[in-house]
Amino acid sequence: MLITVSSTHTLRPGTLWVLLLLCIPAALASKCPQQCVCDQIQLTVTCVNRNLTQVPPAVDEITVKLDLRGNDIQELPTGAFKHTPYLTHLSLQRCNIRRVKEGAFRGLGRLVFLNLANNNVDILYQESFDGLSSLKQLMIDRNRVEEIQPGAFSQLGFLNLLSLTHNHLVYIPNMAFQGLQNIKWLRLSHNSLNYLDTEAFAGLLTLTRLSLDHNGLQLPELTRLEMSYNPMAYLGEEVVSMAKLTHLLLDHMSLQDMSSTAVKKSPSLIHLDISYNQLRVVQPFFESSPKLARLNLAGNPIYCNCYLRPLREWSIRSKVKLLGTCGGPAHLSGENLQAVYPAELRCQSQEAMLKAELEESARMTPPPTLKPEDKVKCPANCVCEADTHHSSCENRAHTKVPRGFSPDTRLLDLRGNNFHYIPSNSFPGVAHVVSLHLQRCKITEVEGGAFSGMKGLIYLYLSENDLTSLSPDVFKGLPQLTYLHLEKNRFTGFPKGAFKLVPSLLALRLENNSIAKLEPDILTGAEGLRALYLTGNVIDHVSPGALDQAGDLDALHLGANRLSEVPTEALSKAGNLRDLRLSGNPIRWVGPNAFRPLGGMSQTSLAGLGPGLRSLFLEGNQLEEVPNLHPLTFLEVINLADNPLMCDCPLLPLRMWIEKVNLKVRATCANPPELRGRKVKDVHVFRACPGGESLPAPPTVTPKPAKAPGATKPKPIRSLLTSPSLQPLLSFPARCCSLKFHPCPGLLLCSAPCCIRH
Ligand SMILES: *[C@@H]1O[C@H](CO)[C@@H](O)[C@H](O)[C@H]1NC(C)=O
Ligand SMILES: *[C@@H]1O[C@H](CO)[C@@H](O)[C@H](O)[C@H]1NC(C)=O
Repeated sequence: MLITVSSTHTLRPGTLWVLLLLCIPAALASKCPQQCVCDQIQLTVTCVNRNLTQVPPAVDEITVKLDLRGNDIQELPTGAFKHTPYLTHLSLQRCNIRRVKEGAFRGLGRLVFLNLANNNVDILYQESFDGLSSLKQLMIDRNRVEEIQPGAFSQLGFLNLLSLTHNHLVYIPNMAFQGLQNIKWLRLSHNSLNYLDTEAFAGLLTLTRLSLDHNGLQLPELTRLEMSYNPMAYLGEEVVSMAKLTHLLLDHMSLQDMSSTAVKKSPSLIHLDISYNQLRVVQPFFESSPKLARLNLAGNPIYCNCYLRPLREWSIRSKVKLLGTCGGPAHLSGENLQAVYPAELRCQSQEAMLKAELEESARMTPPPTLKPEDKVKCPANCVCEADTHHSSCENRAHTKVPRGFSPDTRLLDLRGNNFHYIPSNSFPGVAHVVSLHLQRCKITEVEGGAFSGMKGLIYLYLSENDLTSLSPDVFKGLPQLTYLHLEKNRFTGFPKGAFKLVPSLLALRLENNSIAKLEPDILTGAEGLRALYLTGNVIDHVSPGALDQAGDLDALHLGANRLSEVPTEALSKAGNLRDLRLSGNPIRWVGPNAFRPLGGMSQTSLAGLGPGLRSLFLEGNQLEEVPNLHPLTFLEVINLADNPLMCDCPLLPLRMWIEKVNLKVRATCANPPELRGRKVKDVHVFRACPGGESLPAPPTVTPKPAKAPGATKPKPIRSLLTSPSLQPLLSFPARCCSLKFHPCPGLLLCSAPCCIRH
């Protein structure tokens, strides 16, 4: 589920914070501009048809979708959206926008979808779309665009669709679309194009569809058009519109499909050559070509089933010479098209057909669209995919890091090899790798500078190795490193000092090592750290000051360690902590002030911690009593299960607190013996304690065992927002994702479509 990440994309240090924020009940979310409708669950803000003259300034920072259609904004100034950095969708249709100033969208590094249709924009400036490093769809239809300045799209490396239909473009200059490294479809229909510079479409290596219909590209006297050996994959509707054209040569291209009206506007066509393409199906374009006498389909993998019957019937009827052979199914494979009779062109049941197709495609050799010189660079004993930019040498018993990967590689998967030692500069020439997998490589040492040059690296997986320490400059040259996996190694101490060179580090995973202590200043350099995972170590002591450098820590997992007390003092500066996990420690006692955010308390209080804490996991400890939890006013998840709680007056504060909050508190009495196994909430001993008189009296009728009191109480809305959603947020993105997608915005949108493995 990661992740595709452009090399220039920087995950903002607020990521996890925002994630966690998304779990906050609606009531806590705040700003909503007066003229707008805000949905604080979906994080959308809608201000449609409000005659707004500017982007409303008071939009909540955490907004994800902003809909401003139908306003009167006229001009988008530089930084117009700098207050809403988490936007993924922005709709600006019908806003009378004349000018998009340079840098107008700067800061919108997560934006995926931008619609500027139906405005009056006439010039696309060089920096109009700066900063949109995740953008996938850009719609500028129905404006007045007549000029595209060089470099206008140079930052849109993830764009799939650029739509500029119904504008005033007259010509396309050289390199106009430079930088669109992932563009699939370029729509230029309904302009006034009459001239395309020779290099107008240079660099569009991934384009599969180009729409140029309804333009001024008329060549009225042309009778013969030779387009052979152009790497075009699709012929759109009415794309060839030349009244006198008789010969059209489109052979040796990369056509995978053509619209049934592709040549409709060329009714004089006699000879059409579409040989040596990738056509499996032939659309009934021939029906609008009355003069066609010769159709060359040789070298296409034509599938001779019922879908081909119209073509064959037409060719018999109109005496058209068909060239080419069937590419399948098996019993017709290699047969001349002319020799196959319509009755033989049958379709099996849908299921059988699907199966046949699948087998067919599995047999297919690498797409012949790739000319040999385009083949992606790949070291021996590895597999490299050009379209996904994934390279893998997983489980191949390499003893040295292979070299010679394509410089475009985005994901490099080397897990399961036997490297033992990673020397410096082990990854030259792969500056665009975003995700590097080195799990299970028996690594005992990584030399300083091992990763230098990997400027785009965001995810580094060094889990399940044999590391015991890290050299101070091990992560040198990784300015974007954000997620670092070091779990399941052999660290006996915290690898202190190694994080000085990773300013972007947000999450550090060190579970299942043998770390015994957290000493002062271990996080020097990792000032932006949001999540620290230390579950499953042998930590018995956390020094005061151990975590002071990471003042923004959101999540601290210390479960399954050997702590005998809550590390109160070490947490005293962790004022932003929202998720503290202490389960599975031998904690016997939590100080009465542990969670009381009282200024002036002894330094053992968790000053500032209380109101911020949203989840507290204390299950599986040795607690007989629980301190006053009243300061934890925003707690959404608490787990006290598997503690030997003593249900007597000292536990009254917990019982009172449970009465007050609308939370499922997993707390069960262990003592006295007659109350063992009863829920703390359901026993009535507390009413007899001083201060417990206000607790509800036991029901006067003996309750039927089937229906416990409170069982019909409506489920608090809040619980919907907590446990189910919190867990996945705090877990990591799946290890391997298609790099065709933008970085999972805050991990959150990183769900199925982006995940191709694991
Ligand atoms: C916007 O302006 C138009 C024209 O002045 C007016 O008719 C319309 O009511 C205005 N809409 C709003 C929401 O103010
Ligand atoms: C740590 O080890 C435990 C027990 O083997 C396992 O359940 C857990 O998934 C491991 N966690 C990580 C992050 O490796």
